[in-house]
Amino acid sequence: KKYAEITGWGKCLPPAVMTNDDLATFLDTSDEWIRTRTGIEERRVSAVGTSKMATVAARNALAAAGLDAEELDLILVGTCTPDEIIPNVASAVQRDLGNKTAAAFDLNAACSSFLYGMHYATQAIRTGAHKKVLIIGAERLTRILDWTKRESAVLFGDGAGAMILEASDVESGLLASHVTCDADARDVLALEFGMSFDRFGFDGIMPFNFVGQEIFKRAVKGMNTAVEKVFAETGLTTDDIDSLIPHQANKRLIDYLAKMCKVPEEKTVINIQKYGNTSSATLPIAFCEAVEQGIVKPGDTIVSAVFGGGLTCGAGIIKW
Ligand code: ACO
Repeated sequence: KKYAEITGWGKCLPPAVMTNDDLATFLDTSDEWIRTRTGIEERRVSAVGTSKMATVAARNALAAAGLDAEELDLILVGTCTPDEIIPNVASAVQRDLGNKTAAAFDLNAACSSFLYGMHYATQAIRTGAHKKVLIIGAERLTRILDWTKRESAVLFGDGAGAMILEASDVESGLLASHVTCDADARDVLALEFGMSFDRFGFDGIMPFNFVGQEIFKRAVKGMNTAVEKVFAETGLTTDDIDSLIPHQANKRLIDYLAKMCKVPEEKTVINIQKYGNTSSATLPIAFCEAVEQGIVKPGDTIVSAVFGGGLTCGAGIIKW
């Protein structure tokens, strides 16, 4: 079994919507600024923790795959907003799904976590170490935002997305992937937490530090290199690509990436206007919506590119 076929997909988007105008009632910002600089019109705000959203997305993915939760042998959750530091979100999902035997762990490559997860889960399936894997990207970013800081408060939203990967002989799943980290730029996107408790105290609000234009520059460069590598590895060109699913952090950055990959707008999956940046969840949520809307169809070839704090970067060619 050489491939990790995507047999299930599911998402969870909390019903509460916060529009740009809602934000402008308590922040010195405007719908016009947010729309033109980021492409965001509204975002979702969760009343429940990351693991609850993750479990809903997982149940939907299991249903799509026609799989029982007991059959899973690995549960991998990409998140930078876990409910607790220990135990991890993956174990909460495992308990709530009723699985007793799978390995379960979280990974944090910030917004790149889901593609990182697909990369390593695919390798694990190829070696035979695992056969049926549940990968989730889930975030409750609104819980940790400083709502008095307009620079960051307008950018993020909550949500979760999941995929089931199963060992298969059918050429499918992640055909090539490249993940990397530009650690010299660790400080351009930082949310100090965990071991920094002593320095900041903990009242549920953390200082989110980032240098937007530096992230923009480095993200474009990192994604460009990663995309070139996956094209070279597969021998594919942009003519072979049916759609581009990018990380949803900024509409201008997505447009830039689409131009770089020579993918036309109608083939680029964009939903940032509805959900903002949901970090590790943007890729699986966008994949689910693209499938539901018929933008991504069976047999399609997709290129994906992501970036996040670290600065982590990655790209993948996905065959569905
Ligand atoms: N409403 C109104 N004005 C604002 C807001 C706001 N919400 N936020 C910032 N401003 C003001 C600033 O104070 C500044 O005012 P000044 O010129 O008087 O000093 C002005 O707008 C311009 O601020 P910049 O930070 O230079 O704005 P920029 O055009 O760079 O846009 C953004 C910021 C959207 C973050 C952009 O840099 C970007 O998308 N970067 C890449 C993605 C990113 O950084 N995402 C966040 C981190 S998460 C991740 O990317 C994985």
